[in-house]
Amino acid sequence: MSETCLWLRCETKEFERRAALTPTTAKRLLDAGFNIVVERDEQRIFDDSEYEAVGCKLVENNSWPTAPTTATIIGLKELPESTDPLPHTHIQFAHCYKNQAGWASVLSRFSRGGGTLYDLEFLNDANGRRVAAFGFHAGFAGAAAGALALSSQRKGEKLGHLQPFANENAMVSTVKELLGGSAKGVRALVIGALGRCGRGAVDLFRKIGLAEDDILKWDLDETAKGGPFQEILDVDIFVNCIYLNSSIPAFITRDQIIAAGKQRRLAVVVDVSCDTTNPFNPIPIYNINTTFSEPTVPVDVGPENPRLSVISIDHLPTLLPREASEQFSMDLLPSLLEYGDRRVARVWTDAEKLFQEKSAAAAAVDR
Ligand SMILES: NC(=O)c1ccc[n+]([C@@H]2O[C@H](COP(=O)([O-])OP(=O)(O)OC[C@H]3O[C@@H](n4cnc5c(N)ncnc54)[C@H](O)[C@@H]3O)[C@@H](O)[C@H]2O)c1
Repeated sequence: MSETCLWLRCETKEFERRAALTPTTAKRLLDAGFNIVVERDEQRIFDDSEYEAVGCKLVENNSWPTAPTTATIIGLKELPESTDPLPHTHIQFAHCYKNQAGWASVLSRFSRGGGTLYDLEFLNDANGRRVAAFGFHAGFAGAAAGALALSSQRKGEKLGHLQPFANENAMVSTVKELLGGSAKGVRALVIGALGRCGRGAVDLFRKIGLAEDDILKWDLDETAKGGPFQEILDVDIFVNCIYLNSSIPAFITRDQIIAAGKQRRLAVVVDVSCDTTNPFNPIPIYNINTTFSEPTVPVDVGPENPRLSVISIDHLPTLLPREASEQFSMDLLPSLLEYGDRRVARVWTDAEKLFQEKSAAAAAVDR
């Protein structure tokens, strides 16, 4: 079998510091006989020298368009908009399989160039579960942002611009410090606590010092009775981490918040699920996605009631780029190790079949 080349391209999306391959996973692939080429990238959380040190070949930033077409280009986020045909095979999130804006044009670049797309969102194990996802660190970072917003609110301030943290320890110690050394006494409710994001949120709350009894962990069993839920109003921070796939009663409503008046404890809602514009959104108290520069949006709670803000950032793992990349890339590694056998390895043949189906649908739209 000829040597398989994976070419780690730079990320061009603003603020994106994560990487699909880390020095750790690159080394594992090199040891397994892969050729790993890495584009120099100042934006990436990992230094170029960390890849060089494990034996990767470093090449110029954004040079993948001139890579040999036998190389597979691996990255995370969408490619910059263009109509150029794509002759390579790409592994990445392309966000073009659910009829998103411009989906058919993105796919037509592959068919016109003879390239193939393996979309990371659709690499599934035999049970249909994604082989790699960023959920855990989305929940972890979301809970941290919620705790930071609580600390600002307690000082009568608004949470300012959020910057990515160098690592998890830096995030945990900053949050604890801003809450006076520990978050002991803070009470939080996580819904979707058994999922990836939910487990991450619970982990952060434990690490910043919440007592176990003060972390309420709800999943399907606890919400089966149907909302809205008074329990949400009786915690400081509510983190929503559910995977929404049907119409469910609202978890919390504005009327309920206003009716609670000054008795309400709830100060911050973190909507990790971010089903902001979904008609079934179970948190119909806000209607925009917030950003790192403006992390919170106030809820209209009625005059003289305690403040309530919502965080609804849809790319939370970017706040913890090192650990989020390490975990995602390690989860992806077993599939990458099978990549040399992609003509027969199920995870890759399924992904290619999906790409062919979506490309055919795109061609029908273009006609
Ligand atoms: N904001 C971000 O940056 C970000 C990043 C990654 C994922 N997400 C989103 O977070 C959501 C969760 O992702 P995940 O990977 O954790 O999913 P998951 O499937 O691992 O977990 C979802 C959990 O929600 C529970 N759940 C579903 N409906 C529920 C209900 N009505 N009541 C209580 N629990 C319920 C499920 O039982 C499961 O435990 C998704 O919508 C995903 O798109 C957001």
